[in-house]
Amino acid sequence: MFKQVVAVVLLFAAVAQGLEIIQCSNNRPTPQEVTVPGCTSLPCQVPNQSDFNFSVRFAPTFPTNTLTVDVRASLLGLFLPYEVPDHLRNGCNNINTSCPLTAGQSVTLTGTAPVEAPLTGVTVTMEFEITGDGGQVAVCFAATVTLL
Ligand SMILES: *[C@@H]1O[C@H](CO)[C@@H](O)[C@H](O)[C@H]1NC(C)=O
Ligand SMILES: *[C@@H]1O[C@H](CO)[C@@H](O)[C@H](O)[C@H]1NC(C)=O
Ligand SMILES: *[C@@H]1O[C@H](CO)[C@@H](O)[C@H](O)[C@H]1NC(C)=O
Repeated sequence: MFKQVVAVVLLFAAVAQGLEIIQCSNNRPTPQEVTVPGCTSLPCQVPNQSDFNFSVRFAPTFPTNTLTVDVRASLLGLFLPYEVPDHLRNGCNNINTSCPLTAGQSVTLTGTAPVEAPLTGVTVTMEFEITGDGGQVAVCFAATVTLL
């Protein structure tokens, strides 16, 4: 009986935990959970010219009418040019509900970020920052991605 309970708890923990992500600098708010299909630990492997697919659950601490997604890619500490596609940039279009959001409202945003690199085998750090009204940071996380 006890063993069964332990097994159920462990299973639940493994499912609920999601991916262990990298925290952004400057104490920007962290997500409640990030999941990346097909990736259970960093770095995630993504074929060149494919998409990095992710889902992030977070709750902005302030009310907001807008959500803007910014992506920064870096390699060995150098920023790479990265143009956020329009379909990803407007976060309100990719959440499981609609904007405006109230303070503390938990939402899930699902996004696809194209990846492209001149070299394979390199591991790029991708930082995802979602800001609300007035540029206030709602959530931020980073993940390492190895290009195949
Ligand atoms: C991301 O999703 C797209 C569309 O569903 C799919 O074609 C692509 O292979 C996915 N990328 C990865 C790395 O799984
Ligand atoms: C959206 O996702 C959040 C967090 O996962 C969840 O709490 C909420 O119930 C979802 N809302 C809808 C309308 O599905
Ligand atoms: C990845 O795709 C881009 C765009 O087609 C191409 O320029 C680049 O050479 C590709 N990288 C590799 C390692 O094949």
